[in-house]
Amino acid sequence: MNPTQTLTRSTQSYSSVPDDQIFNWEETYGANHYGRLHMVVRKAEGAWLTSLDDKKYLDCLSAYSAANPGHHHPKIVQSLVDALQGNYASVISNVVYTDPLGFFLKKCATLVPQLGPRFGAKGNKVLAKNGGVESVETAIKLARAYGYQEKGIEDGKQEIIVFGNNFHGRMITVVSFSTSQKYKEGFGPLTPGFVTVDFGDIDGVTKAINKNTCAILVEPMQGEGGMYQPPDGFLKGLREVADANNLLLIFDEIQVGLGRTGKNFCFEHENVIPDAIILGKAISGGLVPLSVMVTNTHLMDLVFQPGRDGSTYGGYPLACVAGVAALDVLVDEKLAEKAATIGKGLKAKILEVASRSKQVKEVRGRGLFIGIEVNNGDAMVYCRKLLDLGVLANDSHGHTIRISPPLIIGEKEVDYLVERLEKVLVD
Ligand SMILES: Cc1ncc(COP(=O)(O)O)c(C=O)c1O
Repeated sequence: MNPTQTLTRSTQSYSSVPDDQIFNWEETYGANHYGRLHMVVRKAEGAWLTSLDDKKYLDCLSAYSAANPGHHHPKIVQSLVDALQGNYASVISNVVYTDPLGFFLKKCATLVPQLGPRFGAKGNKVLAKNGGVESVETAIKLARAYGYQEKGIEDGKQEIIVFGNNFHGRMITVVSFSTSQKYKEGFGPLTPGFVTVDFGDIDGVTKAINKNTCAILVEPMQGEGGMYQPPDGFLKGLREVADANNLLLIFDEIQVGLGRTGKNFCFEHENVIPDAIILGKAISGGLVPLSVMVTNTHLMDLVFQPGRDGSTYGGYPLACVAGVAALDVLVDEKLAEKAATIGKGLKAKILEVASRSKQVKEVRGRGLFIGIEVNNGDAMVYCRKLLDLGVLANDSHGHTIRISPPLIIGEKEVDYLVERLEKVLVD
């Protein structure tokens, strides 16, 4: 059965309430926690967003990589519709078993290469949560308990090495080790137990290790921190240091995993295998919250027994059917390969535009994760202009325009985007 044939799509949007009214409601009744672009999205399909007056915008944000397979991918939508109509969607409780969770865990655990091979080859295990930050916290629990149980570190003294410009989410423990003052100021008391080293500084990592160090937590390519690739050999160096000191090496691939950078997993670029990986966003194809921490079976069993963790919605059926469908789409539609090929061509074209622009400081990135750092340090100025021209993009760390469209874009979208970048960066 071809899922695209079974879907009857509505042509209506949620409402036809005018944009001004929506702006007013969101501003009156909602927290002012995002700097907003002035647009109300009414529909999203593939790589395109639509406004009330039917204007189309190319989505170059993809909800920070959540919409990697394109918005409302028919196979993922169909899996959700089937689950809702078939009465196997709602949350039950992980106190019983559900078949969607079983399917999802197996697919996810086996898609990820064997993690932490020094802990054995009995496969991976997966712990499912909702938003990405929850799985970062799961990984922090894993690391601390490993330090306590296996390394004999006194409980409460465990330390994890993290990096400057990191971004791992917004809850208290995670903002506690952010190097952005605005993310944490006034939210104290902050969570102790994190030591910060410059991203790329292997010597700094070695110096930061002491008897209480239990793990290294790193984004194999930084997303919110400005879209930086680590220097060559850095991840390999981290692996060596972790092995030499019996530390867990944990990669947060919430934004850069699942095809975004041209490989299923970003760590595959350098063939450095972590002990645990955190995935989120695109793992459910951008339709329901789902995130996971995946690790070696030995480590998962060492730390997590009944009562040690849990989440009401974590791994609930609706999220899991989306997860199964989204991972199938990733593999069947070769999204990583597409990102590698299209991204290479797009980056070359952006570099060409940049070579004629006085506004661009640097173009960097891999796959369909491309940053354009601007000289004036204010990427949102350009993002607002892009929005007027029919492109949704936002900044990374203030100074960089983030270009991260859905991985299904083709040459037509590439040309559309480059034409508009030319207008805002060169004309
Ligand atoms: C690398 C990384 N980790 C964690 C998170 C937090 O994910 P969430 O916003 O789903 O909690 C993000 C979100 O952008 C991220 O980019």
